Amino acid sequence: MGSSNNNIFIGLFICVSLAHITILTSAKVYVVYMGGNDSDDPDEILMKNHQMLASVHSGSVEEAHASHLYTYKHGFRGFAAKLTDDQALQIAKMPGVVSVFENKIRRLHTTHSWDFIGLVGEETMEIPGFSTKDQVNVIIGFIDTGIWPESASFSDTDMPPVPAGWRGKCQSGEAFNITHCNRKLIGARYYLSGYEAEKQEKLENGKVEYDDDPKNKRSFQSPRDSNGHGTHTASTAAGRYVMDMNYKGLARGGARGGAPMARVAVYKTCWDSGCYDADILAAFDDAVRDGVHIVSLSLGPDAPQGDYFSDAISIGSFHAVSRGITVVSSVGNEGTKGSATNLAPWIITVAATSIDREFTAKVVLGNGVKLKGESLSVLQMRSSARIISASIANGGYFTPYQSSYCLESSLNYTKTRGKVLLCRHAERSSESKVTKSEIVKAAGGVGMILVDENVDVAIPFAIPAAIVGRKVGNRILSYINNTRRPTSRIYSSEAVLGSQPAPRVSSFSSKGPNGLTPEILKPDVAAPGLNILAAWSPAIGQMKYNILSGTSMACPHVTGIVALIKAVHPSWSPSAVKSAIMTTASIFDKSGKPMRVDPEGRRGNAFDYGSGFVDPTTVLDPGLVYDAMATDYKAFLCSIGYDEKSLRLITRDQTTCENQPFTTPSSLNYPSIVVPNLKSRFSVTRTLTFVGNPQQRTVYRAVVAQPRGVEVDITPRRLVFDRYSQTMNFTATFKTTAPSRGYVFGYLQWKNGKSRVTTPLVVRIDPSDLGSGM
Ligand SMILES: *[C@@H]1O[C@H](CO)[C@@H](O)[C@H](O)[C@H]1NC(C)=O
Ligand SMILES: *[C@@H]1O[C@H](CO)[C@@H](O)[C@H](O)[C@H]1NC(C)=O
Ligand SMILES: *[C@@H]1O[C@H](CO)[C@@H](O)[C@H](O)[C@H]1NC(C)=O
Ligand SMILES: *[C@@H]1O[C@H](CO)[C@@H](O)[C@H](O)[C@H]1NC(C)=O
Ligand SMILES: *[C@@H]1O[C@H](CO)[C@@H](O)[C@H](O)[C@H]1NC(C)=O
Repeated sequence: MGSSNNNIFIGLFICVSLAHITILTSAKVYVVYMGGNDSDDPDEILMKNHQMLASVHSGSVEEAHASHLYTYKHGFRGFAAKLTDDQALQIAKMPGVVSVFENKIRRLHTTHSWDFIGLVGEETMEIPGFSTKDQVNVIIGFIDTGIWPESASFSDTDMPPVPAGWRGKCQSGEAFNITHCNRKLIGARYYLSGYEAEKQEKLENGKVEYDDDPKNKRSFQSPRDSNGHGTHTASTAAGRYVMDMNYKGLARGGARGGAPMARVAVYKTCWDSGCYDADILAAFDDAVRDGVHIVSLSLGPDAPQGDYFSDAISIGSFHAVSRGITVVSSVGNEGTKGSATNLAPWIITVAATSIDREFTAKVVLGNGVKLKGESLSVLQMRSSARIISASIANGGYFTPYQSSYCLESSLNYTKTRGKVLLCRHAERSSESKVTKSEIVKAAGGVGMILVDENVDVAIPFAIPAAIVGRKVGNRILSYINNTRRPTSRIYSSEAVLGSQPAPRVSSFSSKGPNGLTPEILKPDVAAPGLNILAAWSPAIGQMKYNILSGTSMACPHVTGIVALIKAVHPSWSPSAVKSAIMTTASIFDKSGKPMRVDPEGRRGNAFDYGSGFVDPTTVLDPGLVYDAMATDYKAFLCSIGYDEKSLRLITRDQTTCENQPFTTPSSLNYPSIVVPNLKSRFSVTRTLTFVGNPQQRTVYRAVVAQPRGVEVDITPRRLVFDRYSQTMNFTATFKTTAPSRGYVFGYLQWKNGKSRVTTPLVVRIDPSDLGSGM
């Protein structure tokens, strides 16, 4: 009897499973966002989510359970589940739902990450006049690819006990258990459901092989980092001092992160192919509850970014910032105008620049001419060899033109063997430069010179090689064309300090304007992101340190600075912290000239670097800050068209969009001012809060660098403060004075002695105003 019961049970189970599979094949993962968290108890929230799910699964509780991936309940409300388009539509109409969106993939903001096999270290930061010893109380959450806990960068030697009130945990998994956390690495979690659901989906459809490059890849189902990116970013922001950090002997020396005594909590959401919304939101939800002070994410959506409340990073960061947590992220690596991402005004969005160190390889031609190119290859040629243009080494069906790019199988072994090849790289192409060197090597080549406009990023080539710009490339080509037996020799890469003006904005760093809300300037600031040495996961390339480039590397530099500000000014709001970083940034390079932009070397503007290059020596004493509160963000959301229903769910209060303090997003109390459609005259009011020395009456005077064709009047021109946290308003009135097309740039500076509070001014005269012959 018992056995027949068992059979029935098994039969039922199979039915349910089959039903489940049919759901899976036509379903996608969706995130259902339901606004801010309310006082409901977590079990009740879970039950309500299952009820919502059951109601679109014809009442089936089993199916509801099977389709459910995550419930978000600490930082905000919502859930992730597998749904058909139709079911998603039904849920979107239910009361309490703000948005329903597909589980999209986000990418790490490392340029050509596959090209880089190494680690990065960073210059130390001592700030005169302030003690930053309280950084031991600052907890930074990294949403990234996990961590390599054995790295010396995360040693807990001499660190005090874990701060009281920390509620995070050390989650064990493959090659990772509770013993891997310590007083430095105080928390580690991982999020796999959103990624696995997508992976399963793709395999079931039989379309896409998920892990397209299994070579060298080992994924640990745990917080352990198999990619290197998470270890690199965490050590850049908060790594301990490591005495002998270097990459293959290059860039030797001691290095540490910006806040080496701050605590690290890791939220691994990024896997081989990227990071999914459902997992990112789960990480934010936990980080908010765990008690982190800062969230750092070196990843983002592809441009153009979607609306704020159907984008996991915008949603998660909104609720984090509402609770006083500062969120720092990267602007992206697409490089082109308008490609900036992570556009929400509550995020600090970081662009990338060079530092004053370059990795160059010397190239000597047979005629004695010495040139240099960019490279991280420590290999060198023992003697000179014939150099040819790759176009004449074409093999098989490839045309000379195709072969000039040194594409896979395009080179003829007989023609290539023993030679140095001059190869081309298509502008903004995603082809791997490392792979090109491997192709030349496989075809018997002994060296490669790669002609590319983006000479700035150094690459760890597989053979002696160097990247040169078009001008130098043409010089070499003309030597080849006009010489009977042209030869060349490529030497190994060396680290060179101070050979070029620095910082320069990197060519890959994504640029403004803000594609979603042009009234908000993005990026906010710039920080080093080119050829950065930091800790690495030995799971890749068996190296402890690596050199990487990307806005991914710029973001944790700012994260480290935020940790120092939090150590000294723990009560400052995320907006005040951000303002301090922005108003003290510099638009000049170290030689005092306006910062330039690679590769052309044109003069930079606020769309390249926001307020400018961060200056950690002045951030702790900004004098004045532009602060913004929850009420300001409500007004901002109303000003960009959010309706009352959504707004009330997001904020969980009785906010209405009537009687808000402002109606245009230009008026958000932001540390930069953008007027994207100036029609003859426009005014904004900003509020400054005094955070300087209250011992004496402090007078600030306004100085304006006028944007071309625009007159900016500041009233009053003088602000007098006599107590800490005192606020003062000023109004900036913009008037057109002469026709100009496109965006024009200037700045406002509040000056008191040597202290300066700088605010970028960005204006575009409305095209219809130009026609009116104004
Ligand atoms: C949100 O969740 C947290 C922890 O889960 C709780 O302490 C807090 O009271 C909730 N917020 C509201 C507004 O109920
Ligand atoms: C945790 O990992 C360490 C190092 O791999 C190992 O020695 C230890 O036995 C593990 N502990 C548990 C409880 O699994
Ligand atoms: C490679 O080049 C040699 C010499 O020009 C030629 O004989 C041979 O057929 C070529 N091989 C292929 C595969 O193109
Ligand atoms: C070198 O020769 C090639 C083909 O013979 C030609 O296309 C190219 O323009 C020449 N380049 C220079 C810099 O002389
Ligand atoms: C500054 O302006 C805000 C509204 O924009 C107003 O609420 C506040 O009272 C003003 N503060 C001062 C000191 O005038």
